[in-house]
Amino acid sequence: MAKTVLTGIQPSGQLHVGNYFGAILPLLNLQGEGREVRAMVADQHALTTVREPDVLRQSLAEIPAILLAAGLADDVVLFRQSDVPEHAELAWYLSCLTTVPYLQRAHAYKDAEAKGKECSAGTFYYPVLMAADILAQDADLVPVGKDNQQHIEFARDFAQKFNNAYGETLKMPEGLISDEVGTVPGTDGRKMSKSYGNVIPLLASRDELSKRVMSIVTDSADGVPQNVYAIHALLRPKDELDALYAEKAGKYRDLKEALLEDLDARFAPLRERYAALVADPAAIEARLARGAAAAREATGAVLAKVRVAVGLR
Ligand code: ADP
Ligand code: TRP
Repeated sequence: MAKTVLTGIQPSGQLHVGNYFGAILPLLNLQGEGREVRAMVADQHALTTVREPDVLRQSLAEIPAILLAAGLADDVVLFRQSDVPEHAELAWYLSCLTTVPYLQRAHAYKDAEAKGKECSAGTFYYPVLMAADILAQDADLVPVGKDNQQHIEFARDFAQKFNNAYGETLKMPEGLISDEVGTVPGTDGRKMSKSYGNVIPLLASRDELSKRVMSIVTDSADGVPQNVYAIHALLRPKDELDALYAEKAGKYRDLKEALLEDLDARFAPLRERYAALVADPAAIEARLARGAAAAREATGAVLAKVRVAVGLR
């Protein structure tokens, strides 16, 4: 049977280079070879962090166009989470099988606790909805960045809990986490993340790219600025890169300029395709409508089994 691949990307701000290498590229690499690939815009998840409707709308319009500009194939099922209500429905059934202490193990909850911040019920419930995304779509493979490892483990636990309680119903998914990419550092050396304001945005103009690259914090070992090198390693083969960094040891400005050139060469074509795609929102809406219909066909079959299994039907 053809394997089903699913990933989700939240429309919670500008997509960045970390998202590209951690989530988008691995998804593109799984296209073809008879796999059924599904890309979901996780708009309901984004509500855990985005409070401004216009910001959400803007990001919701951007993400499908970025994915298409990055090379998402025509046969990929591209859809919005909020167009497929079966995910939220399954999340409810899963939540009835789990306990509060179990969900308190989630990193997002623990971080909030450690910082003495209040955690919204939505943030607390985030892993349940994500597990439901994966299980309702009957996904075999879920490519995500390393920071989502625990979410994948939760999804697997939920499948097991459900099947133990009600008999074999949900498919056991597997995460696909690239060790090669790992966690892409941001300009300050921490994980590149919208929430840290340390990102290199995918759609940054050359000027903006230049500003961000020049602001990368250079903590060096043997004249090699580690953060610059780590981002650069995503763009060039290691032997080429090592030769360059040996030649320019200690010359941070030259190395940053080389990184800027490589980033620009890599992402300028994506920016151009993006500009053409967002200029035609009706075409994107049509693509999302087609995706929603295909996604609902898949979740409809799973939820029909689930409703019988739990006794609702
Ligand atoms: P952010 O941390 O900027 O809010 P998200 O949590 O929305 O990013 O992540 C979207 C996808 O991109 C996830 O699959 C995540 O694992 C991946 N990702 C995010 N940041 C990085 C990073 N710095 N390195 C590698 N992958 C990342
Ligand atoms: N948690 C993912 C992120 O970090 C987004 C996401 C939501 C997701 N649902 C998913 C990823 C289902 C893979 C599969 O942004």
